[in-house]
Amino acid sequence: MKAEFGDFQTPPALVAEILRCLSRNGKYWERVFEPTCGRGNFISGLLALDKPPKEIQGIEFDTEHFQAAKIIAKNTPSTRFVIQQGKIFDLDLSQSLKWSTEGNLLIIGNPPWVTNSQLGSLGSNNLPIKTNLKGLKGIEALTGRSNFDISEYILIKLIQELFFEKPTIALLCKTAVARNVLKFAFDAQLQISNASIRLIDAKKWFKASVSACLFCLDVGWDKPSYEADVYPSLSASEPESTIGIIDHKLVADIKAYQKSAFLNGSSSLTWRQGLKHDAASVMELICISDGVFQNKFQEIVDVESDYIYPLLKSTDLFHGNINSTRGVIVTQKNIGECTYKLEKTAPRLWQYLTSHSAQFDKRKSSIYKGKPPFSIFGIGDYSFSLYKVAISGLHKQPRFRVVHPIKNRPVMLDDTCYFISCNSIESAILLACLFNSDICLYFIKSITFLDAKRPITKKLLQSICFEELLNHIPQEQLIKQANSEYQLTKPCSDKQLEWLSALELLSNKY
Ligand SMILES: C[S@@+](CC[C@H](N)C(=O)[O-])C[C@H]1O[C@@H](n2cnc3c(N)ncnc32)[C@H](O)[C@@H]1O
Repeated sequence: MKAEFGDFQTPPALVAEILRCLSRNGKYWERVFEPTCGRGNFISGLLALDKPPKEIQGIEFDTEHFQAAKIIAKNTPSTRFVIQQGKIFDLDLSQSLKWSTEGNLLIIGNPPWVTNSQLGSLGSNNLPIKTNLKGLKGIEALTGRSNFDISEYILIKLIQELFFEKPTIALLCKTAVARNVLKFAFDAQLQISNASIRLIDAKKWFKASVSACLFCLDVGWDKPSYEADVYPSLSASEPESTIGIIDHKLVADIKAYQKSAFLNGSSSLTWRQGLKHDAASVMELICISDGVFQNKFQEIVDVESDYIYPLLKSTDLFHGNINSTRGVIVTQKNIGECTYKLEKTAPRLWQYLTSHSAQFDKRKSSIYKGKPPFSIFGIGDYSFSLYKVAISGLHKQPRFRVVHPIKNRPVMLDDTCYFISCNSIESAILLACLFNSDICLYFIKSITFLDAKRPITKKLLQSICFEELLNHIPQEQLIKQANSEYQLTKPCSDKQLEWLSALELLSNKY
């Protein structure tokens, strides 16, 4: 019940801080609307102001909360109150809020922090109803996402249905929701301006491990703007960055992006994602002594050694542990390859896999449906190249690593990593130097949102224009850098000629 309504009542101390933040520039709102007002903590906070609003309206679905909010409203004769009980999705806000007072309108509050698919899995009917799907269709059509936050839907509904009131909106929400609304507003050319994102400590206030903020914006004014200053806290006076839309995409730091935007394009190199098998307990192994591997059940794995490859995971790449002792079973050389032949070609592997088939049957993803047994994904010729440049998708700080064979075997990456396969150690080192260059890391920083679960994505990497990077960094500097990186792995004399020919190959090939 509580979960399906995203019920985190805002603590009064946080309400007070938010109201202090909003009234810092002396602005007064005669009218306030709280779209999902809960027990009325924002209403109490507003009434405690030196100059409370003249009129407050609220909507709340839960009966107990609605009653609690009504009691607060009853005891304050100087402010007019209208609290409605109902689901916000069922109301056309342009019609259902009847104001008796004129003046500036503030929309404040804290809509539920749940997604439609979380609600779907709870069997909840607390979802926008079919006849009211204007915004929902818009979200899906414009973002291609069928999963979205309820608060994202509510924010868009407020902008679309109340723009004629020229309100200021100040809602607590996930930072990702604020960004999605900004992008949606740009795509749909909604009239928003003056947006800001003020980070709050969601762990402290709501025991929630998510990046959250007070998202403020003005609606309905001329000269729309799709940028938002990002402040580290409610009390900060200076923004730490400005996010916004450039070249039709949302960037995390407009200033940094403008300085490195020449790298924005389309990579002629192909970034690949590592192996996906969704059966780590039996497919991922640890080498416990020379050639002896154990699975996660601590069973010794007796299979043909040709099918076990060294494995690196994102944490190995991030920390630079590129000589890991992990192994992974590779059942196919290409996606969809028939696996039944393993029964003859690798009988011990076949026996191992079939005796653990329950682990494979548990795989939920539809990609495995109708595929040969023990199928894997993210596999192709590129997986078997001896040299690679790879990066973790999960870490906030981008670090590109050269991956070289272990005991003459190509190293596999797991599906939390991305890589480019290279035909020589020289090209791998040169590519790593290029991608680890200051300008490239600066560009990545400008387009990366650090609170994302996977800050580095294939789409992001594929947008780095490799030719521009190659043109930007002087050849001598690159070779000097490559030489010193190479010395770390294999002390040798100067390899000027090798570098030059690898560079030539890189420039021609790509
Ligand atoms: C995160 S709580 C915030 C409550 C209050 N605004 C506050 O800040 O203290 C979200 C509130 O939205 C209410 N709610 C959830 N779904 C709703 C809906 N469809 N229509 C109206 N209220 C809803 C919940 O009952 C809950 O009280």
